[in-house]
Amino acid sequence: MKPALDAYWMPYTPNRQFKAAPKLVASAQGVAYRTPDGREVLDALSGLWCVGAGHRHPRIVEAMKRQLDTLDFASSFQVGHAAAFELGERIAELSPPGLDRVFLTNSGSEAVDTAMKIALAHARACGQGAKQLFIGRERGFHGVGFGGVSVGGMVNNRRAFGPVLLRSDHLRSTWDPATQAFVRGQPEHGGVEMADELERLVALHDASNIAAVVIEPLAGSTGVLVPPRGYLQRIREICDRHALLLIFDEVITGFGRLGAMFAAQALGVVPDMIVFAKTVSNGAAPLGGVMVRRELHDAVVQGPPHLAELMHGYTCSGHPLACAAALAMLDVLHEERLPQRVAELAPRFEALVHGLADAPGVVSIRNLGLAAGIELAPDAAGPGLRGTRAQAAAFDRGVLTRTPGDTLVFAPPFVSTEHDLQRMAERLRLAITDTAGPPA
Ligand SMILES: Cc1ncc(COP(=O)(O)O)c(C=O)c1O
Repeated sequence: MKPALDAYWMPYTPNRQFKAAPKLVASAQGVAYRTPDGREVLDALSGLWCVGAGHRHPRIVEAMKRQLDTLDFASSFQVGHAAAFELGERIAELSPPGLDRVFLTNSGSEAVDTAMKIALAHARACGQGAKQLFIGRERGFHGVGFGGVSVGGMVNNRRAFGPVLLRSDHLRSTWDPATQAFVRGQPEHGGVEMADELERLVALHDASNIAAVVIEPLAGSTGVLVPPRGYLQRIREICDRHALLLIFDEVITGFGRLGAMFAAQALGVVPDMIVFAKTVSNGAAPLGGVMVRRELHDAVVQGPPHLAELMHGYTCSGHPLACAAALAMLDVLHEERLPQRVAELAPRFEALVHGLADAPGVVSIRNLGLAAGIELAPDAAGPGLRGTRAQAAAFDRGVLTRTPGDTLVFAPPFVSTEHDLQRMAERLRLAITDTAGPPA
């Protein structure tokens, strides 16, 4: 029976269009969904950048079932349970050196806002309460909380909620169509010069007013924009020079997507906090968090011992089910060597995605690790239409993608075989070709 669709207000979805032509899935296993009528839809998006280990991984399913049979809920406010502490320790062991304090949330958006609050709390703890401005980057996406929307650089979010945002300023995007259109991996040129813009913003606002710089090492949600070589290193140098906190939003890149556990390790730059979510629990339960440099934690965790040091947290912070999923996912990442597997698959993946360059209307292809963006020329009627049509055509052709603007995102599960990747690429090509003409 077809479900009634009216009541559920879908997130980040053109509701009326969707409900006129719904695209439903009913089950999933490994790298594929099944529609209610049994059709296979290959998951070229890892769910929504989160199902790295593939759908319904038996280790994760088992661990979650076991957890539900033992402890369904325990608050983390002044009471604890072992799995949350174990998860904190395990994440701290994986983190770059020094980032060994872990705050847990339920989503990437909450994790971004948490990191921003920690930056504000740290500034106050150090007697630098004027540090309230955040520096983000054009085309950055940091979720949908007011903090994340403020520091994010997505014009649609800002258009919708502009006047209520926190104080922020923005670097320009690292995307340069003139030199990067079909670059494979990290662009060689321009990174240092782009990052030097941070010096200008510091000169404009003064370091004494800046709480933190918040960037995605690789901008995922706005179409896979790969940082040129030297960019992140120079951002780190400038932050060090002016004693600015650097926060990496690794909601997409964290836990393996770039061929190392974190982009900080893959790209060789260590920030002061790392925001994570998505792959940490393989998407099987909502979970996010922040890895924090120990000195920041220690500066905030002060004051009268009977008072909470940070006035922040969520009812479901450290939820037992999410912790069970994440602990099992960490085992899977380790035992199946998934970050290494990503590194091994990446050259083949790169060759496959760049093989789409001759499909009709492709104007740029960008990739790093198992993340790629295939940008299409917009329809004459305006930006975004071709993308929406291509996304729908892809689903009909049996492959799940997502199209910020007119860019098809290709971000397969880490457990994909080369054959899976090839089938996904073939179906994406069909979707691009299907939508090459003007809209019907
Ligand atoms: C870089 C980045 N930060 C934050 C978020 C928000 O995460 P969530 O949707 O779990 O709130 C996302 C979501 O895609 C993201 O890509």
